[in-house]
Amino acid sequence: MSGDVLILNVGELCTPLGDVARKGGAMRDVYKAADAAIVARDGLIAYAGPRSGLNPDLIEGLAPIDAHGMAAIPGFVDSHTHFVFAGARADEFLMRAGGAEYMEIHRAGGGIARSVEATRGADLEELVRLGESRAWAMLQQGVTTVEAKSGYGLDLVTELRQLEAAQAIRQRVPIDVVPTYMGLHSVPAEFLGDASGYVDFSISEVLPAVAAQGIARYADAFCEAGVFGVDECRRFLSAAKSLGLGARIHAEEIERTGGAALAAELGAASADHLLRAEASDYRALAAAGVVATCLPLTSFCLGAPHADARGMIEAGCAVALATDLNPGSAASGSVALALAVAVIYMRLTVEEALTALTLNGAAALGLAAETGSLEPGKKADFVLLDAPSIAYLPYRSGVNLVAAVFKGGELAYRA
Ligand code: NIG
Ligand code: FE
Repeated sequence: MSGDVLILNVGELCTPLGDVARKGGAMRDVYKAADAAIVARDGLIAYAGPRSGLNPDLIEGLAPIDAHGMAAIPGFVDSHTHFVFAGARADEFLMRAGGAEYMEIHRAGGGIARSVEATRGADLEELVRLGESRAWAMLQQGVTTVEAKSGYGLDLVTELRQLEAAQAIRQRVPIDVVPTYMGLHSVPAEFLGDASGYVDFSISEVLPAVAAQGIARYADAFCEAGVFGVDECRRFLSAAKSLGLGARIHAEEIERTGGAALAAELGAASADHLLRAEASDYRALAAAGVVATCLPLTSFCLGAPHADARGMIEAGCAVALATDLNPGSAASGSVALALAVAVIYMRLTVEEALTALTLNGAAALGLAAETGSLEPGKKADFVLLDAPSIAYLPYRSGVNLVAAVFKGGELAYRA
């Protein structure tokens, strides 16, 4: 039957537990079982634990798949990406590597504006083709749920087209795609010097269309010096909330401007980047139950100091990790590298990093009750690793150890 599977002889089953984000010290409490079994029925986990605890009735009629010597983990949830776009900016990457600043390029009309130009020039079919190939690449790295932000259109038709492409990709690739309308990503050329006018336009013209079409679950804003201020982000995200969308914020990425405090004030689903956030921000996010999303590949690719994920955990935050895959600040998209950077430079334990890339990523997308851990009743989204334990994830830094990916109990990819 579809969505039914039996995995035996798992060397190490490793998963966080629960259907809400794990905060602070609880992030490192992951469940581990040796000689484990996983059973899926109708696409949902029916059992995940030691083989000795398996009820024989549960596996009747199922041909076992042998996972000898392999670790099994939940599918990764990449809760912050901008993977639907056209064009590339490799030249800017080299300029930055040579010492240019991200915001300097942005001010000179490069950066996001160039990706907007390329994306406006791509039709739906082209955007789907580009996004689909990136979605397959993510699936092959063990990602079973991914967020997709718009924000490279910044006009009505292209924003809707980006979100429509995200929806189409979900039909073609066995990966769940959570769409986010990132209206406030940058001020487009036609509103140059009039950020507030552009915010008005996004609120009155685009948001209602996005909400009416039910084409996005979240709204996002780049709260940054020289881009959008706290008041503009508050206006936009409050309007989004009143239309039933959740809020997320790119906060304290290049400069600390108050985006994290705004996320706490609005009860946002997540505050992301946080490279320049401070202890008082961590406390505010923890108290408000906002997931603190760290993006190790962005700081790595920008050559910037990494976010203080340790400080966030000590302050009681639920920390998530994501790739931020985008054509500018983080074109890598490597889940393996993100995890290794988090462990090596942000000093997360491998257990914390696993929780951050699974359950807490799911929580950041409002999906912790249905995915992000291997427990009965959740989606049978899991990964078998060509490695005996999760220690190998950071140890084999940057190497994709994914041997097989199961999505809803179906084999979606095998190396
Ligand atoms: O998350 N900072 C704003 N947005 C992206 C970068 C987008 C781009 O450079 O194209 C980010 O880093
Ligand atoms: Fe981003």
